[in-house]
Amino acid sequence: MAAEESIRFDGRVAIVTGAGGGLGRAYALALAGRGASVVVNDLGGGVDGAGQGAAAADRVVDEIVKAGGKAVASYDSVSTVEGGESMVRTALGQFGKLDILIHNAGIVRDRSFGKMTPEDWDTVLKVHLYGAYNVSRPAFATMRENKFGRIVLTTSSAGLFGNFGQSNYAAAKLGMIGLMNVLKIEGAKSDIKVNAVAPFAATRMSAAAMPDEFRPLMRIDMVAPMTLFLCSAGCPVTGNIYEAGMGHFNRVAIVSAPVVWVGDGERMPTVEDVAGHWPQIDSLAGAVPHFDVSEVAIPRPRS
Ligand code: NAI
Repeated sequence: MAAEESIRFDGRVAIVTGAGGGLGRAYALALAGRGASVVVNDLGGGVDGAGQGAAAADRVVDEIVKAGGKAVASYDSVSTVEGGESMVRTALGQFGKLDILIHNAGIVRDRSFGKMTPEDWDTVLKVHLYGAYNVSRPAFATMRENKFGRIVLTTSSAGLFGNFGQSNYAAAKLGMIGLMNVLKIEGAKSDIKVNAVAPFAATRMSAAAMPDEFRPLMRIDMVAPMTLFLCSAGCPVTGNIYEAGMGHFNRVAIVSAPVVWVGDGERMPTVEDVAGHWPQIDSLAGAVPHFDVSEVAIPRPRS
């Protein structure tokens, strides 16, 4: 085994949603190449969610099998409860267990908020946010029984920071972070680690948003090292978010700044108190992330 392949997935079973192309295909190939048995899930539709077909998932399964790996196709949609249950059943039926879930399936229906229809809103939330729920629910149940699990959700910088025309997508991608924040706590005693990746890569989805000169830099397989690390048995973190792409990696976090006490603690603070302390209240100096709500909700002493 090459020294650079010391992180292996032999004996592990993984589901990768949306693995018929783009980033999901790269994850499936990389996992299988390092020994995992992979359920290659893909609905096989267009980038806007229209249509479906078996060809995308089948192609990736063929690639893996031809390279000597183990894989099986699933054509289920992540956007239904039944779809999530069915792909987990496939993993258990074909490979006997489920260790790793990468929820990567995605679509876009970009429009400025004034033009976004309720259907565009619903369809995008159904794939990204409901999809995260639909696949995590049965996966989490079997991972708890096995006392091991790695879940990676796919968020986006568009949700973390905002992007014109993506209100549906951004809401769904940040909603997933709320799900992750709770699953990391509820999964902790079963060694289930749940993290999120915000990728950058030149795929069919990002084609419209990306200047042509960036495309060669944004190789699709440059995200997989982070995603696979978060799936590994030795993954040291849970509940974290990482950006990954173009060969660079960094952590993103929700932080809170030190509290600012106003008044003397006896009387109600006024609107003018807030205005009078605005530079301090608005400052992020000394801001830190927190593991859970108890770290922020318990009153901190006046200083
Ligand atoms: P892609 O369009 O190449 O891949 C998405 C895959 O998901 C497709 O193969 C599609 O058939 C599948 N899919 C869509 N709806 C599905 C459903 N209901 N059930 C099962 N499969 C379904 O796009 P890409 O870029 O590879 O996207 C992967 C993930 O990364 C998405 O969640 C996307 O939002 C996210 N992302 C990508 C970025 C990029 O720079 N490419 C930036 C930020 C986030």
